[in-house]
Amino acid sequence: MKLMLIQGPNLNFLGIREKAIYGSVGFEDVCDEMTKYAKSINIDLSCFQSNCEGEIIDCIQKCYYDKYDGIIINPGAYTHYSYAISDAIKSVSIPTVEVHLSNIHTREEFRHKSVTAPSCVGQICGFGAYGYKMAIDYLANDKID
Ligand code: DQA
Repeated sequence: MKLMLIQGPNLNFLGIREKAIYGSVGFEDVCDEMTKYAKSINIDLSCFQSNCEGEIIDCIQKCYYDKYDGIIINPGAYTHYSYAISDAIKSVSIPTVEVHLSNIHTREEFRHKSVTAPSCVGQICGFGAYGYKMAIDYLANDKID
């Protein structure tokens, strides 16, 4: 099984940005840990990060052409206003799980709304990077009733 983990703007600054909210583990460490975890359960996980909306859309479309089985996406601030990313997720018909490190519902009002979540199977938020593992587990097991 092939999964893609897409992380949006400023997530490459994990371990540097607002540590009280996002934690002190660095971006590369999070990617490495997720890749290793996926491998341990026989999943081939690719990681992609971009600060640009169009590149995120290109990556989602690449998942279609390259026949990925699932997408895990943390669209960062694009979550709250990118109809283009929302459309891209819908377009590819690949099961997609939205993940946020922080609990967006307990933060500023503008973060409470996700325009991308309605295109996803579901949303996980507030569990830090562990949320990415939860999403991997779900996608790995989504054939189980
Ligand atoms: C975030 C939440 C967003 O509101 C914010 O803009 C981010 C990170 C999270 O993972 O908690 O960049 O997606």
